[in-house]
Amino acid sequence: MFKHVEPYPGDPIFSLNEDFQNDPRAHKINLGIGIYFDEEGRIPVLESVRRAEARLLAAGGTKAYLPIEGAANMRGAVQALLFGAGHPVLSSGRVVTLQTVGSSGGLKVGADFIARWLPGSQVWVSDPTWDNHRAMFEGAGLVVHTYPYYDAGDATAHPPRPAGGLEFDAMLAALAALPPRSVVLLHACCHNPTGVDLSRAQWDALIPLLRERELLPYLDLAYQGFGEGIDADAYAVRALAAAGIGFFVANSFSKSMSVYGERCGALSVVCPDALQAEHVLGQLKATVRRNYSSPPIHGGQIVALVLGEPELRALWEVELAAMRARILAMRRALHDALVARLPGHDFGYLLSQRGMFSYTGLCAPQVDVLREQHGVYLLRSGRLCVAGLNEHNLRASADALASVLAG
Ligand SMILES: Cc1ncc(COP(=O)(O)O)c(C=O)c1O
Repeated sequence: MFKHVEPYPGDPIFSLNEDFQNDPRAHKINLGIGIYFDEEGRIPVLESVRRAEARLLAAGGTKAYLPIEGAANMRGAVQALLFGAGHPVLSSGRVVTLQTVGSSGGLKVGADFIARWLPGSQVWVSDPTWDNHRAMFEGAGLVVHTYPYYDAGDATAHPPRPAGGLEFDAMLAALAALPPRSVVLLHACCHNPTGVDLSRAQWDALIPLLRERELLPYLDLAYQGFGEGIDADAYAVRALAAAGIGFFVANSFSKSMSVYGERCGALSVVCPDALQAEHVLGQLKATVRRNYSSPPIHGGQIVALVLGEPELRALWEVELAAMRARILAMRRALHDALVARLPGHDFGYLLSQRGMFSYTGLCAPQVDVLREQHGVYLLRSGRLCVAGLNEHNLRASADALASVLAG
């Protein structure tokens, strides 16, 4: 019956994490997986989340099914977080939001919807992007292409172009040539894996093009608050809404509330009018019902309480700001440590990139040496998770990186 079933090679990120767990070396350092670790190398349970859970427990709790679209208070809180409370797209009933199984669940539900209701639309993702984007959209039956994004530099150019920037002109040119109704997947902030984001001016240049070419933006907002701040990181969401464009946005609380395993996320769709919004919501619900039926209750209740109760909200914002500040401090510390070891190299990218990740420019064989000889784990693309650094492992990480870069 199952003889023809091919072995699964494993997800590169999860497999690497398992290799790390099984590595017996005491000095090993995990800069591979995209998880925020605190100064002691632990995945924090935020105090705001603990208090929300204590309140839920004290109130007696419920384990009932949620509606297909999730809890109303969670969905409303997500809308205010994304668009800003009272935004006209919200008051005009043009936005529909579903609580989903992480933002991965949201991304996939949106992809399934597109495959069913926008047949013929193809998807463009940044080169590079989070590996799972391609897997999820292809899994929905859609054809996936890439548009230019990360500038790997050109040592032969005059003057030589250093790696680490955004190929914005090439990106615009590629998108300008797409047929109408093409889906353009965009990282709203903290691009994974490069850490290279669009500036506000670049969003302002891109958005009219998306509108004129009648393209369908699909935002992935997995790191709200990890870049510049909660509102600043939602710039693309609000600018697209202000431009009157219809679009999708999948957002996550995995990182911003450190609730990875609770699977808290949402999918929102901005529609041209309230009637279309009602129909879109109905078909999204049908998609969910056919998949996992309804989202998990516990995480949604945590998110609703943390976002909705003023005292918990204030505490969360402080905790989120502290995570952001720690990442920035680690960027600076790694930058300084590498400059001290290799004065001839340009490590400025560590300071200009945002969010948990930096693209180091290391090639796969160099990453292999880092792991095998030094016990320092990065993705083979050269992606380094800055949030895995701390005062205890920084020096060893910098030593290892410098030795591989010098060699
Ligand atoms: C860019 C991006 N999108 C989406 C996700 C999915 O997050 P989750 O499903 O945990 O909400 C991640 C997680 O690593 C990510 O990096």
